[in-house]
Amino acid sequence: MDVQWYPGHMTKAKRMMQEDIKLVDLVIELTDARAPLSGRNPDIDEIGKNKSRVILLNKADMADEGRNRRWVSYFQEKGYLAAAVNSRSGAGMKQIQNIVQEACREKMERDLRRGIRNRPVRAMVAGIPNVGKSTFINSFAGKACTKTGNKPGVTRGKQWIRLNKNVELLDTPGILWPKFDDPMVGQRLAALGSIRDEILQTEELALWVLEYIRENYPGLLSARYPIDEAGRAEDVLGRIANVRGCIQKGGDPDYAKAAMLLLDDFRNGRIGRITLEDPPQKLA
Ligand code: G4P
Repeated sequence: MDVQWYPGHMTKAKRMMQEDIKLVDLVIELTDARAPLSGRNPDIDEIGKNKSRVILLNKADMADEGRNRRWVSYFQEKGYLAAAVNSRSGAGMKQIQNIVQEACREKMERDLRRGIRNRPVRAMVAGIPNVGKSTFINSFAGKACTKTGNKPGVTRGKQWIRLNKNVELLDTPGILWPKFDDPMVGQRLAALGSIRDEILQTEELALWVLEYIRENYPGLLSARYPIDEAGRAEDVLGRIANVRGCIQKGGDPDYAKAAMLLLDDFRNGRIGRITLEDPPQKLA
């Protein structure tokens, strides 16, 4: 699959991330609950070393609940504070507040030992495009928070959102770039819609998604459309085209249109709660 993320974008994103991270004590990293490893860039571990770290599985409402629990355990076993969250509805935010406090505690204790009091912990949100960073910031910070102005010398040009007396959040998220070393990563991110459609082969991608859902979540496709989901993937897509009225002028199924429809349904969670990858068997 021909998936691209231009080197220029990558270099710029990396440079900005490296600058912004100097300003904070804590990185709240968002990944997509439907593909938690594909949706994160492991370079953040290097860039964010010496910082407190939280990993949030966002869009958990569209991911498989059982797998959400397994992924949270996976990241916790690797030593991160982790949780599943739905930034759109705000479900799980209370727990996130507690996790962020927990992540800050160590830093505040260190400050206290040095005689520093009442210095707020500074945090930033980071993640690849479209993972829900802005939605999370709005939901997490809520309406009650106040924006603090520039602080000369330390945070010039940056806006901070004061969450409570202990925590300030950088109001612009850090953009991480996807890492496509493994072709399956590109495939999953494309399926989730994290990569622009015009550079993708839509039908090929839709057929892959169709096969994946049929194998891992049998019955969901036939319930959604409704169709018989057995047989060749192309034939199943043809049946979806027929029941959804995706028909060409001559009466043949419009596969391209059906492919878009299937992808759109999948990306918006309309087929069901689906996760595209499992945690690795052994800790890496
Ligand atoms: P970004 O800053 O990381 O680029 O992502 P952004 O917040 O713009 O979110 C990208 C899309 O993901 C938005 O949908 C947003 O509503 C959706 N989203 C974010 N978090 C969640 C979540 O936890 N659950 C669900 N189901 N969706 C989430 P959009 O279609 O681009 O916009 P809109 O429909 O909200 O207007």
